Amino acid sequence: MTSSALKTTALITGATAGLGAEFARQLAEQGHNVVLVARDRERLQARAHDLENNYSITAEVLSADLTEDAGVAAVVGRLSDVSRPVEILVNNAGIGLLHSFVKNDIADEKKHLKLHVETAMELSHAALKVMLERRAGRIINVASVAAFLPRGTYSAAKAWLVSFSRWANLEYARDGVKVTAICPGFTHTEFHDRMGMDKAAAPRWMWLQAESVVREGLADNLRGKAVSIPSKRYKILAAVARVLPSRVIAGPPRKAK
Ligand SMILES: NC(=O)c1ccc[n+]([C@@H]2O[C@H](COP(=O)([O-])OP(=O)(O)OC[C@H]3O[C@@H](n4cnc5c(N)ncnc54)[C@H](OP(=O)(O)O)[C@@H]3O)[C@@H](O)[C@H]2O)c1
Repeated sequence: MTSSALKTTALITGATAGLGAEFARQLAEQGHNVVLVARDRERLQARAHDLENNYSITAEVLSADLTEDAGVAAVVGRLSDVSRPVEILVNNAGIGLLHSFVKNDIADEKKHLKLHVETAMELSHAALKVMLERRAGRIINVASVAAFLPRGTYSAAKAWLVSFSRWANLEYARDGVKVTAICPGFTHTEFHDRMGMDKAAAPRWMWLQAESVVREGLADNLRGKAVSIPSKRYKILAAVARVLPSRVIAGPPRKAK
């Protein structure tokens, strides 16, 4: 058995870019083998190659569209394989929709809801079965500080992840499984370009780096925190948002590039 076969394994969704790529990098740096999930197989393979070259770990690639049942089933299959247990699941893959609810195509809204909520729920369900049997595991749900704001179906979906993580962390901590919702504010990734949003609409002080968001989130998960809000500035903003009226904290609509 090689030394990498003795290591624990982390499965990260949305691992080709942004926060997911950084989760994969930091977990590999910490010595975990990784399973990288996203749609773009070539990008996944390039990431896997880089991680194996830079750290002494193995990196598997699983190309799947997590808005499709077949894609979700493929990842559930990997998570349910008790002969190759996944000790850390990072539900990170996500998208944004530029327009407000009624202006969006309902098919896009359904994919958005599935990716953020249904897929994360299904993958958590599969992962927990194996983790509880082994009485050890970690689940990280990448939510958003938007979970505390009234900003469309994105906020609603992220609020589901926060509520689920709060409950699951209480429920399963005694069985050795830690569940954390990480709630970043604006972070430099491909997210806003992909949705066609004008990044200049948010002032510079509001932007975080993926490296520090992931570092703080992973540390909070290890500490057993149910909710992690990276950076002091967003901890303050989230606390203030809880007491101000919705009309004040809703903010302006998103602007296209
Ligand atoms: N950036 C921010 O300001 C911010 C703030 C708060 C929360 N978040 C959350 O952070 C998470 C990561 O976002 P990010 O900012 O890192 O975005 P990103 O740079 O655009 O990366 C998104 C990742 O998700 C994958 N993905 C998208 N749709 C997918 C699908 N249908 N099936 C499988 N994988 C899919 C993408 O890969 P492929 O295209 O290859 O599939 C990519 O790897 C999201 O849940 C987002 O809501 C972001």
